[in-house]
Amino acid sequence: MDSRDQANGLPRTLLAPNIVGDRARKPASGAFARRNPANRDDIVTLAPESTREEVREACETARRAQREWARTPAPRRAQVIGRLGKLLSEQKERLSRFVSREMGKPVREARGSVQEAIDTAEFFQSEGRRLYGQTVPSELPNKELFTYRRPIGVCGVITAGNFPIAVPSWKLVPALLCGNSVVWKPSEDAPGTAALFYELWKRAGLPDGVLQVVHGRGAGGAGEFLIEEIDAGHIDKVSFTGSTHVGRKIGEVCGRNLQVPSLELGGKNPLVILADADLELAVEGALWASFGTAGQRCTSAGNIIVDKRVMPLVERELARRAAQLKIGDPLDESVSYGPFINERFLERWIAQRATGLDDGAEILLDGRRIAKGEEPPNFSGDAERGLYATPRIFKNVKMSMRIAQEECFGPTVNLVEVDGIEAALEAANGTPYGLSSAVYTRDASLMLRFKEEIRAGMTSVNNSTTGAEAHLPFGGNGWSGNGTRESGIWVLDSYTRWQAVNVDLAGKLQKAQIDLVDTREGEPLALDEFVT
Ligand code: UN1
Repeated sequence: MDSRDQANGLPRTLLAPNIVGDRARKPASGAFARRNPANRDDIVTLAPESTREEVREACETARRAQREWARTPAPRRAQVIGRLGKLLSEQKERLSRFVSREMGKPVREARGSVQEAIDTAEFFQSEGRRLYGQTVPSELPNKELFTYRRPIGVCGVITAGNFPIAVPSWKLVPALLCGNSVVWKPSEDAPGTAALFYELWKRAGLPDGVLQVVHGRGAGGAGEFLIEEIDAGHIDKVSFTGSTHVGRKIGEVCGRNLQVPSLELGGKNPLVILADADLELAVEGALWASFGTAGQRCTSAGNIIVDKRVMPLVERELARRAAQLKIGDPLDESVSYGPFINERFLERWIAQRATGLDDGAEILLDGRRIAKGEEPPNFSGDAERGLYATPRIFKNVKMSMRIAQEECFGPTVNLVEVDGIEAALEAANGTPYGLSSAVYTRDASLMLRFKEEIRAGMTSVNNSTTGAEAHLPFGGNGWSGNGTRESGIWVLDSYTRWQAVNVDLAGKLQKAQIDLVDTREGEPLALDEFVT
């Protein structure tokens, strides 16, 4: 991998290659720059804007490589995953610091997200020695029935920039373990992280061609070109993490090709605080769920739904503590959150303020972009060059308001007042999404009711909406996805197809259903009386 010095004493720029065919290709004329969101002068990575032809070539290469890879015994494929896990552990600090510089999450959190990839590799390393099918009794003598998991073929993987190693690992690790090949379009917000991740895969022993990497934009770029390859018959399965809007379009293309994609889409996640909750714990959880990662997780809390009996205290404490959060340089170990990942998220977050006020919500804590000369007291970043903002809290929010319904990546959260569990559940289920959710209560029967009636795919009791562990099924309902799940054993169904096999040792033709002759007449039926 190549890199070059920048002026002004800034760290070096990484040249992230496309991996098309059997070799790395340096960005030629059509390269784009990924800038550090904490310092826009810092060009972290230069990556190619892939052409349609390159994406097609990547798919063709992946098709050829897949046949050989599928023939490699699963435990040997899993050895590559095991080595990847070790390499990720060895490189954890370097990778975490790079992730932090490239996409802006605090380095403490970046370490957690690299750890999530390590956990995923550790889990699937041993899955290579299972990938269990079943033996099933036959209804006929001298006949055996079996089920096998078979790879699907070439997978097109498109990922977002907020978890640039963890979420790709949720897809690449099981897809490759199961004997598929992958064409990966990483986020344009994290092309350098993708390049580093690819290098570790190669060092772990992944054969040439099995993983192809095509950089570029989503709309009008590599992402869109990759989806076009479904109609062309070059992609057999898509796995996508991103917006509901784009997920829907991808789902339409997959649907007409009779494919089931894995779609992990948006969320407007409720965190419910009931009257009997441990309020200290609940406020701490709400603060982390809302403002951790500057609110840029698909599992971040969007609506804090609070019983009216404890609302005054929650309002006061949440506002007080949010105002004290330390914002700034993500490489500073003590910050609560860093910058926006990109300008697009910042602009949408700025516009959300007027939308909330138009809808009649009130501002409890007025989050603003941090401008030079107006830095808050405990700010540690560069306001002129970074995309920073202070936390925003809306109060008196009704579920009918747009701000309660629409996902907004950024440090913003709504307070919604309710009276009792019934109203809390109605509000929590009151958006089209259903990704993550949380409830704070000490009452076991209320916990049970919430678990049973919440529509989200993931639920925390007395913990944050964020922070799903790497071996539980991750995914949502409604607008949050199409029902597929990532992680743990559940993801295997997304990257394999069941094959049913029967082996007949009878030496004569046996006919299922027909050779089991039973010609007895049953008891007369009541309707027989009406026969004329
Ligand atoms: C995402 O934001 O796309 O549960 C993934 C969590 C993390 C993963 C978030 N483990 O918050």
